[in-house]
Amino acid sequence: MQHFPDVKLSNGLKIPILGLGTSYHGGYSHNAVVYALQECGIRHIDTAKRYGCEEALSKSIAESRVPRDDLWITSKLWPGDYGYQSTMEACRASCARLGVEYLDLYLMHWPDCNFLGRSNRDVRAETWRALEEMYDEGLCRSIGVSNFLIRHLEELKDNCGVTPQVNQVEFHPFQQPWQLVEFCRKEGIAFEGYCPLAKGQALDHPGIVDLAQKYGCSPSQICIRWSIQNGIITIPKSTKAERIFENCQVFGFQLDDNDMAAMHALHDGRHVSWDPTHVAFLGSR
Ligand SMILES: NC(=O)c1ccc[n+]([C@@H]2O[C@H](COP(=O)([O-])OP(=O)(O)OC[C@H]3O[C@@H](n4cnc5c(N)ncnc54)[C@H](OP(=O)(O)O)[C@@H]3O)[C@@H](O)[C@H]2O)c1
Repeated sequence: MQHFPDVKLSNGLKIPILGLGTSYHGGYSHNAVVYALQECGIRHIDTAKRYGCEEALSKSIAESRVPRDDLWITSKLWPGDYGYQSTMEACRASCARLGVEYLDLYLMHWPDCNFLGRSNRDVRAETWRALEEMYDEGLCRSIGVSNFLIRHLEELKDNCGVTPQVNQVEFHPFQQPWQLVEFCRKEGIAFEGYCPLAKGQALDHPGIVDLAQKYGCSPSQICIRWSIQNGIITIPKSTKAERIFENCQVFGFQLDDNDMAAMHALHDGRHVSWDPTHVAFLGSR
């Protein structure tokens, strides 16, 4: 069974660099998750309340018989639950649905909140205080954010005692936010990239198809290898066992410098998920 390399977080915990994404988009496959855990060596699973599959995931994990302590489970807090008390309740409810006593990582899913009469800044800061408390209690072994841009992170920094350990952001060949990656690294925030295949859009790009032929692998493996070779925690999603297996075979080869540069040049700024560019900051709402 493969063992995947880890990335060390600022609090010393180690997160497997390759994880399995889940979501309600495109369905959830119990058999595929059990296969990933039992046959592929996957030990890191990314989910969220929003994905509506936490309970299903609990059944898959139980059937896999992988011990809880060997797993890294990330879930996310939906903005409708922001605010001190509701954050506490939402996290406990996620744990209950997942059938776990603690989360390895809990993320604020999105920087926007839309609470009538309150600034985004205030609501985010209050929410973050709840996360810090759950971190101190051990209910969340690490805490972080998702879809936060530099200005959202800078603002949070003014209000927080614990710096986020992770920022999970869209990252694939067409969306390479290097300034944000560098900022996170400078601040000790691990960068986690989602949609590494650009939701499948990257898989028939001629440049990526050519590289796949050159390295004798699939376009999906090129995208995942490139992301990991950049030191980015990477969470491709598939509901098909054979694709999950394929997506895990990315540690036996290396892209050379020219090909890394060729991948670098594919950025066109496209988002295949949400674009947080216009989410209010600095009390602007
Ligand atoms: N924090 C956030 O706001 C946020 C937003 C979006 C996503 N995420 C996380 O990131 C994860 C991944 O993102 P994503 O699912 O949107 O996009 P993705 O991983 O880039 O692409 C998934 C798509 O590619 C297909 N696929 C996977 N492996 C393949 C392969 N080897 N060959 C051909 N097709 C393949 C999948 O189809 P099949 O399932 O049919 O194989 C699915 O349609 C999510 O599951 C979620 O955990 C987080």
